[in-house]
This record gives sequence, structure tokens and C-alpha cells, in this order.
Amino acid sequence: MINMSLTTSRILIVDDNPSNVLLLEGILQEEEYNNCQSITDSRKTVAAFLDYQPDLILLDLQMPYLDGFEVMRQLRAHTPEGAFVPILVLTANITAEAKLRALTEGATDFVTKPFDATEIILRIRNLLQTRFLHMRLQDQNQSLEQRVRQRTMELEHTQVEILERLALAAEYRDDDTGQHTKRVGQMAAQIAQALGSSATQVELIRRAAPLHDIGKIAIPDSILLKPGRLTPAEFEQMKTHTTLGAKILSGGQFPLLQRAEEIALTHHERWDGTGYAGLCGEAIPIGGRIVSVADVFDALTHERPYKKPWPLDEALHEIHYQSGKQFDPRVVDAFLKAFKQDLIPLEVTV
Ligand SMILES: [Fe+2]
Repeated sequence: MINMSLTTSRILIVDDNPSNVLLLEGILQEEEYNNCQSITDSRKTVAAFLDYQPDLILLDLQMPYLDGFEVMRQLRAHTPEGAFVPILVLTANITAEAKLRALTEGATDFVTKPFDATEIILRIRNLLQTRFLHMRLQDQNQSLEQRVRQRTMELEHTQVEILERLALAAEYRDDDTGQHTKRVGQMAAQIAQALGSSATQVELIRRAAPLHDIGKIAIPDSILLKPGRLTPAEFEQMKTHTTLGAKILSGGQFPLLQRAEEIALTHHERWDGTGYAGLCGEAIPIGGRIVSVADVFDALTHERPYKKPWPLDEALHEIHYQSGKQFDPRVVDAFLKAFKQDLIPLEVTV
């Protein structure tokens, strides 16, 4: 909350002439501005500015050692970005050129000597009001920005939550525990970690990977739950779950949805280019390459309508065998490294 009481404002007077300082202090006290500090040695201005943090500076222009122009230049370097600390310049006769120079250096307003008490007080009041309005505006902007950030986060969470439920709905049809998507998310995150991805990327893939099969929502039960082999026509229809999934996830503004779309579209690509869309090698996004390993390993080690679970050593052998064929060798290495460290979940860990 900004203190709007003008008379408690901190005012710094910088003038080498002690009688001027006395005069200004008197004028200010008369109007109950009792929170003033004065210095007559302009070389101490920056230190006083940093220590006292004034709301307003009354600054003489002609002073020994450092004149008012130089003082303003130094103060500018110490004023936080976006802050407004008004400087009221006190001067005897000022030429148009000097006035312009003072304005360029940071002067906000001028008052000419000999001082007129009413004029000085009016200008001080105006400048302080402007400062406090500026501060209030900044305060409001900050809280608005914070609210927008908060709302954006909530919106992102809501979107992801809806999609996670949709993915679960798709998953429950061929896995009544709904745990496959979660395991793939956890496994993909461990592989990304073993590949040296940043913490942000690891988290992104952990949450995006479970949406990889969301397109299965549009595949008929007769195909999805068929116990035997699919006919070529059925297989073609099954393959559309990648493009359908990407379509469901498309147009997302958040990185998480964009990553999920990419994974849904490319998790059946193969390193050797013989996958669904024929993408090859590093043309396959890394998310798709990671999820394809996690998805296959999890499918091999768990029961499906058309197959029994494979023993662990055979599943590991298959992943290793497919390195450089179906899978990116780097991703397989990362998977095996994470597996050796017991980081690959065989069941969901909460
Ligand atoms: Fe899939």
C-alpha cells in the first residue's frame, strides 16, 4: 500500500548555500513537511539518495565540486528502472539552453531564486502527487500482472486436466487400470533425465507423454480390443490414432500442449524411417523418440488383449535389439542407463 500522505514524504535538499537550505527548511516546516534531510556538499548526494531514499529532491544547479547537472547524471545511474523520483531544480537565472540541458539530465521542474514560498510549496505538492500516483499505478500494474499470471496458470492446468481425463477415458478401453499412460509418462521423464535434459523439459515430457494415445478415443472397440491380429485395413485405421490425437491436441498455446501434440503425432515413427509417417532419424522430434521406447517397453511387459506379458529380460533384449532400427540409439542407451539405476517404473509409482 502506498502512503499518500504528502507531508510525511521524504524530501532531500541539496544546496551548497546554508542560508538557502535554512530558508527552504523553514518553508517546508511551515507547511508541516517535517521529514527533510539537507546536504551542502553535493559530492554526498548519491550516498544520501541511496540511504534516505527520498520522494523528492530539491537541487541547486550552481555548486562547487559537482554541479547540479553532474549530480543528476550520477543519480540517474542509481535510480531503479521504472522509478520516478522528481527533481525540482533551484536556480537564479537560467538560460533556455541550461534549462534544456537540465531537463535532459533528469530535472522535472524549476523554481527560480529568490524563492516564493507559495510557488515552491505548490510545485512540491504537485511533484509529490505525481510521484505517488506513479507508484500507485506501478503497484496496480504489478498486481494485475500477477493476477494474469495466476489465471494463465490455472487455465493451463484446467486444459491439461481435461486432456488427462480424456486420455484416461481412451486408455480405460484397453487397459482397465488406466496405468499404462502414467507409466509411460514416468518412464519418458526418466529417459529424458538420463539424456541430460533440463528440469523443465523433463517435467514437460512427464506430463505430455501420458497423452500420446489420446487419439485412440476415436478408434472403434472392434479394432482396439480385437484379440487377434489386425487386418491390413484395420491396421490402417488403428494408425490414424496418431494424427487424430495430434488434431485433438492442436492449437494449444501452452508448451505442454504443443509438446503433447508432437508426441501424439510421432510416437510410432521409427529411427530407420519405416514408421507410420516415414520420418527418419533426428527428423523425429526427441519427445516422439523417447515415448516410442517407453511405450513399447511398457506394452511388452504388460498384458494386452492380443498378447501375454513378455519376461523382463526378453523385453530388455528387444529394446536393445531395436537400437538403430526402431529406436534412436542414444535414447536406448539412456533408457538402459535409467533401467540399471532402477529408475524405470515397472508399475506406477505415485
Ligand atoms: Fe500409440
